[in-house]
Amino acid sequence: MQNTTTAQAHPNIALVKYWGKQSKPGNLPATPNLSITLSNLTTTTKIKEGKKDAFHLNGEQIEDAKIERWLQTLRSEFEVPSLIINSDNNFPTSAGLASSASGFAALITAVNAHCDLGLNEEMRSNWARQGSASAARSIHGGFVALVPPQWEAMRLAPSSHWPLEVVVAVTSRAAKAVNSTQGMQRSKQTSPFYNAWLRGAAEDYSSAAQAISLRDFTQLAQVAELSCLKMHSLMLTSNPTLSYWTPASIACMDCVRALRDQGHQVFFTVDAGPQIKAVCTAESRPAVSAALAQVPGVLEIIDCGLGEGAQIIDQ
Ligand code: DP6
Repeated sequence: MQNTTTAQAHPNIALVKYWGKQSKPGNLPATPNLSITLSNLTTTTKIKEGKKDAFHLNGEQIEDAKIERWLQTLRSEFEVPSLIINSDNNFPTSAGLASSASGFAALITAVNAHCDLGLNEEMRSNWARQGSASAARSIHGGFVALVPPQWEAMRLAPSSHWPLEVVVAVTSRAAKAVNSTQGMQRSKQTSPFYNAWLRGAAEDYSSAAQAISLRDFTQLAQVAELSCLKMHSLMLTSNPTLSYWTPASIACMDCVRALRDQGHQVFFTVDAGPQIKAVCTAESRPAVSAALAQVPGVLEIIDCGLGEGAQIIDQ
């Protein structure tokens, strides 16, 4: 066993969203979902053995019940010593930029190497999913699917297949009031649209997977925006309502539609937070970044490409 092990992973953004879990154990999504892994935004996780578990996020020691529970489950199957975990994000944590996805993907990758667990990519994806379902997808780079019956993410295509770019417009740096786990449970229990959401998901997934395989931007734009807006309809019709957007989020969506009307290849997607992610071609990226930077209320623009899967960078 080595002294310290460092892993890196990137967040991913879902183009066909996951919002709602199955009732059985294993943190299984209720619907198939599909994402792209980002470059540029990175979680770096360093682990070493300690007298007891300790978790530091961006240099600050914190208690994290999700990570504690996850380690407990991992230890029911493997010999894992007490660990000091240092995790650093180069982007705002808990603000709808999927820090738990890159976090659990980096963590299982680091623990697997550090403790010689012998997990392959599928098994790491399975463990990452038990921490946070979207994390299953950050094990892989490029275009990634999380589908039944295994619910271990698989890579649909590498980044080189279709090097799309993503412009993130940050409209708030505040941590979200209701996290995804609680939010989706509320939607499942209370939104009158939940069953319609379940019924439409397989078709959205197939349409997006086909658009990716054919590199059909128009089809991908249509299905991804629809999936995003359906998810936010579930959120808004939950009781109490889940409203994640700021006025600037809405202005950014209008800006993306206007860019499209001008002929740019761009669409938006938004997760459980106020940031807008504009997915576009490399050709349209400079215009998209410049236009979103002008939207009142946009605090920061982050340009990303498609990134690689979780990996060990130092051992
Ligand atoms: C809106 O994966 O964070 O980003 O499995 O409960 O940890 P848990 O939820 P999480 O939910 C992600 C929701 C989403 C959509 C998506 O990434 O598919």
